[in-house]
Amino acid sequence: MSYEGTPVIERVNLSVESGSFCTIVGPSGCGKSTFLRLLLSQEQPTQGRIWIDDELLPPEPTPDRGIVFQRYSVFPHLTVEDNLLIAQEFEQAPLTGRLFGIERRQARLAVEQTLDTIGLAAARDRFPAQLSGGMQQRLAIAQALLKRPQLLLLDEPFGALDPGVRADMHELLLGLWEETGMTIFMVTHDINEAFKLATRLLVFDKWRHDPHDPSAFGATITYDLPLSRTDQAPDAKELFNSNTTH
Ligand SMILES: Nc1ncnc2c1ncn2[C@@H]1O[C@H](COP(=O)(O)OP(=O)(O)O)[C@@H](O)[C@H]1O
Ligand SMILES: [Mg+2]
Repeated sequence: MSYEGTPVIERVNLSVESGSFCTIVGPSGCGKSTFLRLLLSQEQPTQGRIWIDDELLPPEPTPDRGIVFQRYSVFPHLTVEDNLLIAQEFEQAPLTGRLFGIERRQARLAVEQTLDTIGLAAARDRFPAQLSGGMQQRLAIAQALLKRPQLLLLDEPFGALDPGVRADMHELLLGLWEETGMTIFMVTHDINEAFKLATRLLVFDKWRHDPHDPSAFGATITYDLPLSRTDQAPDAKELFNSNTTH
């Protein structure tokens, strides 16, 4: 993947089993978010191809691939419940953003179920500004989950949360992952989080360096580690080549 001739990611040859939980770590600017955007079809690879279930990835984003960012833009003037409802409405009625009759009732039911699953039922009438950071992230995840994605992409979703809240979010996410069987790719800058959650850890980093031209080469996957839940995180220094901070 290059932007205007500058390589960002190169020589990636990766096959991921359905139902995996892959965490991605790496220095800042090495293409982790770009990699997620490729999986979402928000970007097209400059070279190479991506398949899902033996078919080429559709050229546009589809509802079976959802993404959650560190700070998600929910509508501030809508309640929790209405934020979820409107996500459904735009999904199913992209032109008008409105559902009627039985479709609207079904959408409401799906929203109710998701509110329960995600532990936000008691907060349904609150506005985003009245929610804690953890609750806002639950709302963001709920929006993504309503579309029942097969593939969930998380870009540093818990980076802004306190450690205690983050641990709660881990439990929530692991529960949802086990329940749905979806495949997850999650970028994190927290190496302990990466080890705790993943069945597979991918380290993105530059694998070759031109001291006279730092942008001459892109990053690749320098480590690809299968993990079991009991593996402990090593010191980050052992995983990264680049001297850039992350
Ligand atoms: N739309 C874009 N146009 C040009 N360059 C971009 C674009 N998006 C990202 N980049 C560049 O690609 C590199 C990787 O960015 P990014 O994927 O955001 O890295 P990371 O998420 O690992 O911090 C950076 O050098 C960034 O400036
Ligand atoms: Mg990023």
